[in-house]
Amino acid sequence: MGLANRDIISLGDLSNEEIFQIFEVADRFEPLARGKGRSDLLRGKIMAALFFEPSTRTRLSFESAMKRLGGGVIGFAYPEISSVAKGETLTDTVRTVEKYCDVIVLRHPKMGAARLAAEVAEVPVINAGDGAGHHPTQTLLDLYTIKKTVGRLENLNVGLVGDLKYGRTVHSLVYALSRFENKLFLVAPPALKMPREIVDDISASGREIVETSDLEEVLPELDILYVTRIQKERFPDLAEYAKVKGTYKIGLKSLENAKKELRILHPLPRVDEISPEVDTTPHAKYFDQVFYGMVVRMALLSLLLGRA
Ligand code: NCD
Repeated sequence: MGLANRDIISLGDLSNEEIFQIFEVADRFEPLARGKGRSDLLRGKIMAALFFEPSTRTRLSFESAMKRLGGGVIGFAYPEISSVAKGETLTDTVRTVEKYCDVIVLRHPKMGAARLAAEVAEVPVINAGDGAGHHPTQTLLDLYTIKKTVGRLENLNVGLVGDLKYGRTVHSLVYALSRFENKLFLVAPPALKMPREIVDDISASGREIVETSDLEEVLPELDILYVTRIQKERFPDLAEYAKVKGTYKIGLKSLENAKKELRILHPLPRVDEISPEVDTTPHAKYFDQVFYGMVVRMALLSLLLGRA
């Protein structure tokens, strides 16, 4: 089965072969993404971006990806300006919007929203983040960045640090990394640990996992450090957020014992977990990630729309 017309709701929807196929197409699009040449590959195709939650990179990179390939874009960045504000259900919104477009990109605060949309829509649905659930295209771009900057996706010591409880990017990413031979270090305060069922799934796959709250202790072993923001908006009680806010702050001092080749990734936005002084070190790869995000989305859109 090819990728045309498929829904991408979690990384589980893609085999490793399909992931590599996306990366091959992305490699081809890279010069175009850098502004060299132009393409009309997606001419006549329309993407609808329905964003019920704030976004900068995900929405704009999807829109840019579509436009760089000659396609069109419709949608909304705030549900307040759509009929959702009048009480329309998600399924009615999706059933309507799909009449106007060829692919739907959906971000929603409720876990499972993208799956529900995919069940009612005939056009492919891409999950651009569903609550604390999944964020598969972020994971694709994270993997692509690792492949581009390290040269491989296996035999790596990868540390995921921050909010592993509510962070959807890390939920998708651990599953993806555990498909390859990697050692995973899950670094979080006790209140923000990776959900037990995810850790159990990964352990069952035979991968080695270290769970700790002590970043300093494990940092010297790491090849990749994936930093995440504490997801303030997902805390049922802001007093609980106040207790964990600012737990990890990575600055030049924290990196003194790091490997020379350590790469630091972050899905962004950051709050205070990586100090700006780190940005100019060779470790910092988070703005490269931003670029690769657009390239990977160009590849994914053209494959789902049957044009690559
Ligand atoms: C992430 C998200 O929305 O889950 N952002 C993104 O898509 N790059 C991470 C976050 O908001 O912390």
